[in-house]
Amino acid sequence: MISEISTLVSLREELEAKGKQLVFTNGCFDLIHVGHVRYLKEARRLGDALVVAINSDDSVKALKGDGRPLNAAHDRAEVLLGLESVDRVVLFDSVRVTSLIEVIRPHVYAKGGDYTVESLDKEERDALIDAGSKIKILSEVEGKSTTLLLAAASEQPKRTRIRIGVLGSGEGTNLESIIGAIKDGWLAAEVAIVISDVRDSVILERARNHDIESVYVDPGDHPEKFSMQSQEELTQHLIRADVDLVVCAGFMKLLKKPVLESFAGKVINVHPSLLPRHKGLRAWQQALEAGDSMTGCTVHYVTDEMDAGEVIGQRQVPVEQGDTPDILHARIKSSEHVLLPEIIAKLAEDLLKS
Ligand code: GRF
Repeated sequence: MISEISTLVSLREELEAKGKQLVFTNGCFDLIHVGHVRYLKEARRLGDALVVAINSDDSVKALKGDGRPLNAAHDRAEVLLGLESVDRVVLFDSVRVTSLIEVIRPHVYAKGGDYTVESLDKEERDALIDAGSKIKILSEVEGKSTTLLLAAASEQPKRTRIRIGVLGSGEGTNLESIIGAIKDGWLAAEVAIVISDVRDSVILERARNHDIESVYVDPGDHPEKFSMQSQEELTQHLIRADVDLVVCAGFMKLLKKPVLESFAGKVINVHPSLLPRHKGLRAWQQALEAGDSMTGCTVHYVTDEMDAGEVIGQRQVPVEQGDTPDILHARIKSSEHVLLPEIIAKLAEDLLKS
């Protein structure tokens, strides 16, 4: 795809024999923008074939500093060759293009408007004069440059709301309480994605109803586990959604390394008991069976041990005479719907400051 110098020498001869002209230009062409496209179009119109010499990766680094090029030489060449105006791309390894000019002897040499004939490198200009090349300085496209593009990209505005990924397996009433707090204006957040291990779960339906991206991740073959592949897949979705905080709201699978490492200290869970009392499944029933007169809910950081991470906040809920498991669970859930958004709002404040 990148031309050999010898083929360009032949191209020049072929064109010359037909009374046609070879146009030559050079540059880094690291991040193609509309300024480049217009410039190359104009250059192509100066003759019958356009050869673009691009700096090698090392010479871009020497010219522009570490961190450049953003795109390797082969990729830059491929992008250039995708343009209608570019006929050939060749690579050169030094800061100057003199030796290529000497060998190819272009009929026309085009350069961008940030140069004048006088400010061209003396060595290159002498080589052009020797080769009999016409030197054409093309008009600059105002306000379009790679440097400006990079500056604009690094000036991305600071986030004013955190992005949350919510994981759940069931009803999604906690998701609804988060969305409610956002709508009421006291939780500086947006739910960026909702992920479930249950294909037809209500939580995914709720997400869809709120126009939130909803994703089902197949948990794998084991009914209670979440396979390593599923852990990886879930993590990739969260990374892609660019979330600042992961909230487990009734997610019935244990999270492992991929998520916990990628979002270290940023994964929280809501649990229906006053931890460390009654870890695990149906904690409200455990409270009833233990004869507790007080239970509640907890929001805690998630570790790879079930319901064991540092507690962030709790709310107490009384157990009342005649409570059935369902009645008690419903009372605890009402309390979760207050506690969880409150805690996310506090975490959001800290995350937005950092
Ligand atoms: C809540 O009780 C939560 O504490 C537990 O699962 C339930 C989820 O409820 N981990 P929902 O799906 O948010 O309605």
